[in-house]
Amino acid sequence: MEKIVSLCKRRGFLFQSSEIYGGVQGCWDYGPLGVELKRNLKEAWWQDMIAGHNELLKPDTAPSNFEMVGLDCTIIMHPQVWKCSGHYDLFHDHMVDCKESKKRYRFDQVRGRWVEYQDRKIFVSTLADVETEFDDVRRRGMKFFRLRNKDADKITVGEESITLDKLDSTSEVLAPDAKNLDTLTEPREFNLMFKTTLGALGGEDDATFLRPETAQGIFVNFKNVLDSSRVRVPFGIGQIGKSFRNEITPRNFTFRSREFEQMEIEFFCHPDQSQEWYRYWRDRRLNWYVALGLSSDSLIMREHDPEELAHYSVGTADIEYAFPFLPEGEYGELEGIAHRGDFDLRSHMEGKLDPSTSPMTVELNEHGKPKYRGSGKDLSYRDEILGEKFVPHVIEPSAGADRGVLAFLCEAFTEDEAPDEKGKMQTRTVMRLHPRIAPIKAAVFPLVKKDGMPEVAREIYGNLKQHMTVFYDEKGAVGRRYRRQDEAGTPFCITVDTETLENQTVTLRDRDSLEQSRIHINDLATELQTRIDAV
Ligand code: GAP
Repeated sequence: MEKIVSLCKRRGFLFQSSEIYGGVQGCWDYGPLGVELKRNLKEAWWQDMIAGHNELLKPDTAPSNFEMVGLDCTIIMHPQVWKCSGHYDLFHDHMVDCKESKKRYRFDQVRGRWVEYQDRKIFVSTLADVETEFDDVRRRGMKFFRLRNKDADKITVGEESITLDKLDSTSEVLAPDAKNLDTLTEPREFNLMFKTTLGALGGEDDATFLRPETAQGIFVNFKNVLDSSRVRVPFGIGQIGKSFRNEITPRNFTFRSREFEQMEIEFFCHPDQSQEWYRYWRDRRLNWYVALGLSSDSLIMREHDPEELAHYSVGTADIEYAFPFLPEGEYGELEGIAHRGDFDLRSHMEGKLDPSTSPMTVELNEHGKPKYRGSGKDLSYRDEILGEKFVPHVIEPSAGADRGVLAFLCEAFTEDEAPDEKGKMQTRTVMRLHPRIAPIKAAVFPLVKKDGMPEVAREIYGNLKQHMTVFYDEKGAVGRRYRRQDEAGTPFCITVDTETLENQTVTLRDRDSLEQSRIHINDLATELQTRIDAV
């Protein structure tokens, strides 16, 4: 992981936000290569899920044909949205404060191990990463028991790494930044939404929140979309946009950020067909990642246990990826596919629903009145063909664009052996990104900076730029120029040499196979496009 993080900074994929001022935790900027990669991933999603979808054809595995449309909603919405969606009351993490270090931690994320010395057993926690966790616990345990290095074998460090929320309340805990035991408070709820104020007066009534998910913009526009376009159930609405969560412990590079982008679909269907659509979207979304280059060995589909389900969900499956910062055998969430029932449309219609009751009823306050009133608008759907009125059920495939980028970066990072310009085998770092999402599709080089080669290469560069992202480089040995492009994930390199001046052909080098073929300049654009589309 360290190598990936360092390559991302060195080559301009990702930078820490506000780095010159010391950075902001949980916020990341995409550099010149990163921005292209992320745009390509979002465009692939939009094209494959929304724009390129053919509503006239039934996909093989789908229960029927269906329509897909898009939306782009605001980040700041009416405060009532977050009350009826449940986020105001229920969107929180549990955190603990350390009375000694004054630091705050997420209860379910701080890891540690049992440490035993003589007949004493304490739990030592740490913020160290997976690779160094064991050693850090041992080091802290020895320090706590005032042992020297030569006495290292006198303490026992547990095999199992566990999080604080799995301990019982009588455990003696050494907090990550403390010297004394039992300095952590009881866990408290901490709402993850960023609060902000509408307008200049700034009273409590004007308080609202930055959206923690793009989904709610889709639900509150359900009627607008129905009335303005000719969509019929089943249909889906997709949206890509920023979401904000005040994560207590942002970590693992961009995996858990405070500002991130989501690519969400809310798919509206008849309640009787919802299970079939749920299965359809689970499979389709998993296959999408594989088609774009994630290895199926590193991906799993994990069905949530009932106690794990979010307040709105009837069933949820996560697509998870074996991120290299996780311990062996553990996976991190890339996308959730949730069966949300009619929770959201009904809540925005009638008032916030009580997730603890079934069938769902409106949550009441202590005076027996609805806790939060809904919009009062009719968000049900009349099916003219069936002659039936119902509140559609919703299947929600919700993906993170930044987590997607991170997974593709991790998957792409490879070190292999390739010959240098003298034919000697050298280790090379190569980002094997799928050509569709690679930031630069092709690089153009003159072999040497003379004999008219730069002029020809610049012309090729200018022509190809009309079709795709291309990079021009004439500095240094050609072998080194290839290496730089391998690190950037550029799938093709084009070299203009003496033969080009004679017969108008260039060398086309493939990043992965290292194969070089000769191709006529006039055929370059078509050949590159064919190769990009072929994989
Ligand atoms: N509307 C449903 C929803 O938002 P979620 O599981 O909380 O569900 C969906 O989020 C996806 O958004 C996640 O699978 C993940 O890819 C991404 N995501 C969520 N929180 C994130 C964070 N703090 N940083 C980066 N990505 C995040």
